[in-house]
Amino acid sequence: MTTTIAITSGKGGVGKTTIAVNIALSLALQNKETLLLDADLGMANAHILLGINPKLSLEDFVTGNAELEKVITTTKDKLKFVSGGNAINNLLNLSDLERHKIIKSFNDISSKPEFMVIDVGAGAESSSMTFMASANKVVVVLTGEPTSFIDAYTLIKTSFLDYKMDNFGIIVNMSTSPLQAKVNFEKFQSITHKFLDVNLKYLGQVPTSQKIKNSIISRSPLMSSKIEGTETNSFKEISKNLLLLENNKTGTIKFFDN
Ligand SMILES: Nc1ncnc2c1ncn2[C@@H]1O[C@H](COP(=O)(O)OP(=O)(O)OP(=O)(O)O)[C@@H](O)[C@H]1O
Ligand SMILES: [Mg+2]
Repeated sequence: MTTTIAITSGKGGVGKTTIAVNIALSLALQNKETLLLDADLGMANAHILLGINPKLSLEDFVTGNAELEKVITTTKDKLKFVSGGNAINNLLNLSDLERHKIIKSFNDISSKPEFMVIDVGAGAESSSMTFMASANKVVVVLTGEPTSFIDAYTLIKTSFLDYKMDNFGIIVNMSTSPLQAKVNFEKFQSITHKFLDVNLKYLGQVPTSQKIKNSIISRSPLMSSKIEGTETNSFKEISKNLLLLENNKTGTIKFFDN
């Protein structure tokens, strides 16, 4: 059985792709067979952070140019990767039916991974919600900014009311200290619990870091470098805590028929 993990956020630009790429690499480097799916269709950029340029992407699958299996590439760290294409492709305006076809097609992969990490577009639009609701585990990335709190709350509210999802993992990114991150989580939790009957589990924090910025500029993810540091420890800690996050058991279609 494949454990599928959606990395989401209310507000854009809070670090979803950075976290999705490094968590997927962290799992792959622990010899767990892991697939990273870039489902931020129309804005896909995980391949840029990974420093690779796959010939085929989901666009080739959607247009009937290639089978899904052919669209999977394997990186030097043994991470399997499905690219969402590039910004000038036509995957921005897919219908729900087309998105469901993508989700169902993962059943046809001959070798099912142990984990699939999904980089989902920001916000509560149906383009993001379909992929989010199709994962077992849902992670919401926050920063300490009030705008990030409000948008994350809106995303959780929509997920709960429209899709009956009630378990969410929370990561605080761009934190100034582990203590401040935990305080931010607790503030967010107390606001959310006032209005919604959902479970929020703190998965950890990632510091604001020049090393992370540099890794994006140099297109070489930190987890790939295998040099230990505060940042890589954060990603390892989060990937460990993720395993303890409760699944959402909603009625929508799921990846790998889970
Ligand atoms: N922990 C961090 N420390 C420093 N900079 C960071 C950190 N996390 C992310 N960034 C910076 O923030 C920018 C946005 O990150 P990223 O692309 O991962 O966000 P995103 O949530 O995927 O954005 P989008 O909503 O556009 O998909 C990156 O260019 C990166 O430089
Ligand atoms: Mg992104």
